[in-house]
Amino acid sequence: MKISNVLTQAWGLLALVNAPVEARGHSRTEACHPHHPFKPLPSSQPRTRTCHVANHGDGQDDSANVLAALKKCNNGGKVVFDTDKTYTIGKALDMTFLKHVDLEIHGHVQFSNDTDYWQANAFKQIYQNAATFFQLGGEDVNVYGDGVLDGNGQAWYDLYAKDPLILRPILMGVIGLNGGTIGPLKLRYSPQWYHFVANSSDVLFDGIDISGFSSSANTAKNTDGWDLYRSTNVVIQNSVINNGDDCVSFKPNVSDILVQNLHCNGSHGISVGSLGQYPGEVDIVQNVLVYNISMFNASDGARIKVWPGAASALSTDLQGGGGSGLVKNITYDGMTIDNVDYAIEVTQCYGQKNLTLCNEFPSKLVIEDILFKNFKGVTSGKYDPNVGTIVCSSPDVCSNINAKGIEVSSPDGDDGFTCTNVDVSLLDLNCDSS
Ligand SMILES: *[C@@H]1O[C@H](CO)[C@@H](O)[C@H](O)[C@H]1NC(C)=O
Ligand SMILES: *[C@@H]1O[C@H](CO)[C@@H](O)[C@H](O)[C@H]1NC(C)=O
Ligand SMILES: *[C@@H]1O[C@H](CO)[C@@H](O)[C@H](O)[C@H]1NC(C)=O
Ligand SMILES: *[C@@H]1O[C@H](CO)[C@@H](O)[C@H](O)[C@H]1NC(C)=O
Ligand SMILES: *[C@@H]1O[C@H](CO)[C@@H](O)[C@H](O)[C@H]1NC(C)=O
Ligand SMILES: *[C@@H]1O[C@H](CO)[C@@H](O)[C@H](O)[C@H]1NC(C)=O
Ligand SMILES: *[C@@H]1O[C@H](CO)[C@@H](O)[C@H](O)[C@H]1NC(C)=O
Ligand SMILES: *[C@@H]1O[C@H](CO)[C@@H](O)[C@H](O)[C@H]1NC(C)=O
Repeated sequence: MKISNVLTQAWGLLALVNAPVEARGHSRTEACHPHHPFKPLPSSQPRTRTCHVANHGDGQDDSANVLAALKKCNNGGKVVFDTDKTYTIGKALDMTFLKHVDLEIHGHVQFSNDTDYWQANAFKQIYQNAATFFQLGGEDVNVYGDGVLDGNGQAWYDLYAKDPLILRPILMGVIGLNGGTIGPLKLRYSPQWYHFVANSSDVLFDGIDISGFSSSANTAKNTDGWDLYRSTNVVIQNSVINNGDDCVSFKPNVSDILVQNLHCNGSHGISVGSLGQYPGEVDIVQNVLVYNISMFNASDGARIKVWPGAASALSTDLQGGGGSGLVKNITYDGMTIDNVDYAIEVTQCYGQKNLTLCNEFPSKLVIEDILFKNFKGVTSGKYDPNVGTIVCSSPDVCSNINAKGIEVSSPDGDDGFTCTNVDVSLLDLNCDSS
């Protein structure tokens, strides 16, 4: 397991290499490298009791067993899902009461595919129709193991193809968690996003392995790796993501986020936004460092997407525009791309194809102090001769956007960028249409 590596690198103390898993939480801050979190992450208290989750093993609902074990081992214990056992979760679990507890997952934890039950009972999370299978929150909670959380998404992919307005559950609802480590862990077949992290702080995601493709003609859609909302001081690192939407996405009111050492395949990139979706709301994304990312088979590498000042529609279930706010101090440093449509995409016209309308109603959301640096690799050629686009809806709402060391080209060797309403003297790019 990776735990011993983390401890070795963190403390360099041989005596700890084989330390019990309870000790891992002590090194949350030290486990973050090469960059450190914006603020130190709190340590875990020792776990001194162990509870095993009972299982039926025949598809019957085990959620009551999970709750029973959590109640018994909360405040200083460890709850174990045993190796080679299958657990079925058929009820929405409210796990926001957790404190100083570990969930050690070795077995196969599968959510039932009773789409009627979940649509009625999944936890509604007030943002963008987000609903989660469970909500996990509290203080000092670690979730890890060589087991799997399986969203059993096929029934959902097929149902969504028939009705885009169904409410598809998110696999991991991390809601109101203050202090915690999630990972190493495998996540499979989420019906929708893999993680929704809201009202949380001081959380480390380390060693997450995400994958889940549809086995029918109906693709698994909106399978974002992480969506962060109303959260601060979060680290996401050392993870592999095979999905079909944003690899990581920073939604409203997120600050002090470090993302490093990710391998993303098939995604829509690492995205700020979308923001400004709801009129009357103020969305803020501040202080984000994205470092050392491999981005393959994606629509975008680095992306900042903001809705225009006028109402717009991206799809039947995604509409918006008119909100205000701020995107400030965002750095993307080190990205290797291959078969990516745009290496960099900044737009303030998200969801609006009519550029005239977009410029008539500029975004009310300001973008400032942005740095893209050290990108390399080859795009897909989809937007030849361009490999990126940085388009603001007015020069008044974008400032200090910088790009340097961007060594990206299309398969034909082109390297054009569309640069509109931005200070091109700060962009060391081949801006063709400025
Ligand atoms: C977060 O906390 C706020 C304020 O307590 C609450 O209104 C909201 O429902 C919580 N959850 C989410 C997802 O924002
Ligand atoms: C629902 O889940 C069960 C248990 O994993 C599986 O046997 C069944 O094929 C699934 N049904 C659909 C429609 O995916
Ligand atoms: C985000 O923060 C701003 C400024 O504090 C606040 O006005 C707004 O209501 C917050 N939005 C959400 C969704 O929490
Ligand atoms: C970059 O991330 C990869 C994993 O995707 C890792 O193997 C490599 O060591 C990282 N490089 C640095 C400089 O941290
Ligand atoms: C990477 O994504 C592509 C789709 O873009 C998919 O065909 C391929 O199987 C993925 N690779 C892995 C290792 O999952
Ligand atoms: C801006 O982000 C960088 C990391 O890229 C961080 O070191 C710096 O402290 C941030 N600035 C502020 C004012 O928080
Ligand atoms: C990208 O997609 C191609 C074709 O689907 C696949 O062969 C390749 O393995 C993918 N790259 C990665 C890193 O998964
Ligand atoms: C785009 O918006 C402008 C300004 O509102 C409008 O005059 C024009 O008809 C629109 N074009 C299309 C194709 O809808």
